[in-house]
Amino acid sequence: MADKQNIQWFPGHMTKALRKIKDNLRAVDLVAEIVDARLPMSSRNPDIDALVNNKPRIIILNKSDMANPNATALWVNYYEKKNIRTIVMDCKTGKGVKLFLPAVRELMKPQIEKWESSGMVGRVIRIMIVGIPNVGKSSLINKLAGKNRAKAEDRPGVTRGNQWYTIDGNIELLDTPGVLWPKFDDPEVGEKLAFTGAVKDRILDIELLAVRLLEVFQQCPNQYFVERFKLQNIELSEYTPYELLELVGRKRGMLVSGGEIDTLRAANVLLDEYRGGKLGKVTLELPPRG
Ligand code: G4P
Repeated sequence: MADKQNIQWFPGHMTKALRKIKDNLRAVDLVAEIVDARLPMSSRNPDIDALVNNKPRIIILNKSDMANPNATALWVNYYEKKNIRTIVMDCKTGKGVKLFLPAVRELMKPQIEKWESSGMVGRVIRIMIVGIPNVGKSSLINKLAGKNRAKAEDRPGVTRGNQWYTIDGNIELLDTPGVLWPKFDDPEVGEKLAFTGAVKDRILDIELLAVRLLEVFQQCPNQYFVERFKLQNIELSEYTPYELLELVGRKRGMLVSGGEIDTLRAANVLLDEYRGGKLGKVTLELPPRG
């Protein structure tokens, strides 16, 4: 798979991406925005709010298989309170995908009635998927288009080259998603995206990143982490996060010559296991209170 998450977001790239989304928005009736359920705030670009304006919208909390279900329920509640339809999904297995089309039809009901009263009966409903890299946009398009991958014809008013999949009766999906960039203004956002692997960690200090993840584990008890690294007999809070990283390395026998612990290797293993969902369902942020 191409290194999509390595896209460097220079101002020129952002302008281009934005222009493309703006162009395509004119041709769609509903926008489905995908975020990572483990970090529903940091994995979205709030600029989309102004762009979508008052078009019907669905927020998809994807990768829910790796998120804490209680935290996901809080996020659903948060968005629903803002009157935004939210669907919890796992696009890897397809869980939750079947909720998408009924939600589209329901949200589009007032618009369909308007169309019908002005004589547009059976008007096609067009949808675009948007999101930052690596949240699961292509996975969702594949799941929705599935065996209907035969494309509907190109339509006027759409950026040249765009194609549509007929995904159900009169519902069509734009074959290419709108790619947004993450909002890195807050350094914590970049760090959380790096925990999940959504941004390249080659440019980051891996050991520091692992230490920060261990701090998260110290704050929120995590049985999977404790069991996987056989840390049942210790009190996590009595160790510094760096000492915990050393313990992780020691428990896995990661030693370098002289008996020292290979903390870089330990850091890589820890991050890989978190990204692979092996350290339990850990959500990295909760909705703001109130
Ligand atoms: P994008 O278009 O938004 O950039 O994301 P894409 O669909 O390519 O998904 C990025 C990675 O996330 C893929 O993994 C994909 O399989 C995985 N993914 C998507 N949805 C889910 C989900 O709900 N749960 C989990 N656990 N993973 C999900 P990859 O390692 O890049 O590729 P591969 O493992 O599919 O080969």
